[in-house]
Amino acid sequence: MKNLVLPNSIKENIEGKSFDLDTLGASDSSVYIFDESVLKIEKTGDNANREAEALKWICGKLPVPQVLAFAQENGLNYLLMSKMHGTMACDVLTDDNIDMAVTALADGLKRLWSIDISDCPLDSRLTKRLTQAKYNIENGLVDTDDFEPNTLGENGFTDLDALYDFLETHQPPEDLVFTHGDYCLPNTFTENGKTVGFIDLGKAGIADRWQDIALCVRSLQYNLCDLCALPYDVFLKAKNRLYSLLHMEEDAEKLRYYILLDELF
Ligand SMILES: Nc1ncnc2c1ncn2[C@@H]1O[C@H](COP(=O)(O)OP(=O)(O)O)[C@@H](O)[C@H]1O
Ligand SMILES: [Mg+2]
Repeated sequence: MKNLVLPNSIKENIEGKSFDLDTLGASDSSVYIFDESVLKIEKTGDNANREAEALKWICGKLPVPQVLAFAQENGLNYLLMSKMHGTMACDVLTDDNIDMAVTALADGLKRLWSIDISDCPLDSRLTKRLTQAKYNIENGLVDTDDFEPNTLGENGFTDLDALYDFLETHQPPEDLVFTHGDYCLPNTFTENGKTVGFIDLGKAGIADRWQDIALCVRSLQYNLCDLCALPYDVFLKAKNRLYSLLHMEEDAEKLRYYILLDELF
């Protein structure tokens, strides 16, 4: 942080305070965690620009960080926000408390869906997302290194354009709700089976409810099977519990579609 040149509005809020550098986030952002606040520095771009706007719109409707300062300088966004309390859903899992984590994830989805979208200015519908996806492909912003194993190659699509064409021509009808946009375990804070904090909201907005269910299911599988090395059956049980708490059946087509769409972000 010593060598970082910070905008004045940010600097005056954090000068002299000590911090930890978070390394968990998936994007190329840098996140500095202070005692009571968090500074997220990210390249200026569609989703980064959206995050502060989304936090302001959601404030008062859901537990999200409060924007303390926001600045754009030299191609970077600086978002200083309040720190969320509670335990990240992924850390609850490692405590061997899978049911509790799944209950909290279902609670979070229900809270997102309870928001009235009639005056929501944040559009994340497929037309918008596909335009962004195309931009990402054309500008070399898609990182294929973190793709699911069979998205490309012998059992998948030949290249990014083929994946895009599939997404464009197979758009499922949209059941619109308010969505988080990147509803994975490290982006939710939980306490006793409740979601008490939502973060990383750059893609939040009106979209199909499977946008969030799909990434939640993918994240559950990754955390249980890959990170915790638990058997696949444990993931299946957790997934079925999630559906049962949501009173829903799996929509395999939408599940696959929204996981594929996310590859292009
Ligand atoms: N407001 C916040 N309160 C507490 N922790 C946060 C906050 N914002 C970010 N973090 C921590 O930093 C990590 C990365 O931040 P996030 O906004 O999710 O960025 P990325 O886009 O890199 O995933 C989170 O998983 C969380 O551990
Ligand atoms: Mg994140």
